Amino acid sequence: LGTEVADHYDNSLRILDRGFWNTACTETSITHIDGKVGYMQYRDKPIDELFHQNDYEEVMHLLIWGTIPTREQKINLRRKLASHMKAPQSVQDVIKAFPRDGLTHPMLLAGISAFTSLDEGTIAVHKSSKPPYIGNMGETDDAIIRTLAALATTVALVYCHKRGRDWTPADPDESFIGNLLLMMGQTEEGSSSPNRKLEHCLERLWVLNADHGMTNSTAVFLTAASTLQDPLSCTVAAVASAYGPLHGGAVEMAYKEFERIGSVENVPKLIAEVKAKKRRLFGYGHRIYKVRDPRGKLVLQLMDEYKDDVQKNSFLRIAMEIDRVAETDHYFTSRNLKGNADLYGCFLYTALGIETDIILALSCLSRSPGVMAHWRESMGQPPMLWRPQHIFTGTVASHDDA
Ligand code: ACO
Repeated sequence: LGTEVADHYDNSLRILDRGFWNTACTETSITHIDGKVGYMQYRDKPIDELFHQNDYEEVMHLLIWGTIPTREQKINLRRKLASHMKAPQSVQDVIKAFPRDGLTHPMLLAGISAFTSLDEGTIAVHKSSKPPYIGNMGETDDAIIRTLAALATTVALVYCHKRGRDWTPADPDESFIGNLLLMMGQTEEGSSSPNRKLEHCLERLWVLNADHGMTNSTAVFLTAASTLQDPLSCTVAAVASAYGPLHGGAVEMAYKEFERIGSVENVPKLIAEVKAKKRRLFGYGHRIYKVRDPRGKLVLQLMDEYKDDVQKNSFLRIAMEIDRVAETDHYFTSRNLKGNADLYGCFLYTALGIETDIILALSCLSRSPGVMAHWRESMGQPPMLWRPQHIFTGTVASHDDA
């Protein structure tokens, strides 16, 4: 072994970086974020441009396969995804075994697990003695389609179960989002077409959500996937992480806070408690951004387009007041704490009739093309197990050196 390789394996080399503030775990050409100036791009395209010019399926193709699809490629992708949106009876039974008013995420985790146990492609790779996916882009791409379709179907099944509704099959001519809404039973009044207003809004909002670099849940997915585990199983790990209160779960926590304080008059008391470190302000703060999240202004633009619906939500006034205070208060400005884009996105969902108990599940789904893009990128490289080190701070017992 040359010195370079020998050093690489030197057991005494440790860099302590709690929370991985400065540690990059991979190189990527998928998403670039500059948190100091508030800029983001997917591949070579600024997010503003994509938001104004492209729909979600186009961005899905861009992220995963690197190009905006031709019309034919887009229709092909849409049909393939729709053909895998099936709801096997056993998956339905697993989800229906949960109390209807129970927590959403255990239903999601169980539903995805049930899909994993039935998915023929997944079973085939687990039965084979050949290492799966890595370097085999055909196998990887098939798995990506099945994972996206299974997650969409699971979200819809959970939504239907919680509302005592029947699941509706997908239609090969509808878009990915159109089919999600169909399966959820979110249709136009008196018709079997997806709710077009909601579909149009999500086509744009989800462009902003489709990837966000090495988020906690994406890193969790990739850590699990670095063992060459199948992507449906890795999705279970990623969804569990996404539901944590410091990550995607923050939006649900923020909503509970709005509910608890009840009105704008109580905002000063909440802010005082936050500044006294008695509580965190959920939906505020971000590891990467030192200025406003570049997606935030685009979400606000979208909110403006739907303002008649959005303004009906009484929590919006509370959120705006918190934002007003956070803009000028030293505690928030000195720590660069700004409202995150997901918090405002939530107002769009509720304005268009989507209840808060399913919003995070929809967010996970909206992020799945980005996660799949990172997975595909890693499967195109030589295998590399992700395995951080730790530093032992106890007393080393006497032992024989090997
Ligand atoms: N409310 C009050 N104070 C906060 C908040 C907050 N939301 N976020 C950070 N701070 C304070 C910390 O107490 C700390 O103060 P100190 O310097 O006096 O000790 C300082 O700001 C830095 O905070 P850290 O926790 O060290 O920063 P980190 O980058 O690790 O935190 C995080 C990022 C976890 C997102 C944090 O801002 C937070 O807990 N926010 C609330 C949860 C949330 O909204 N998460 C969603 C993130 S976006 C997403 O994942 C979808």
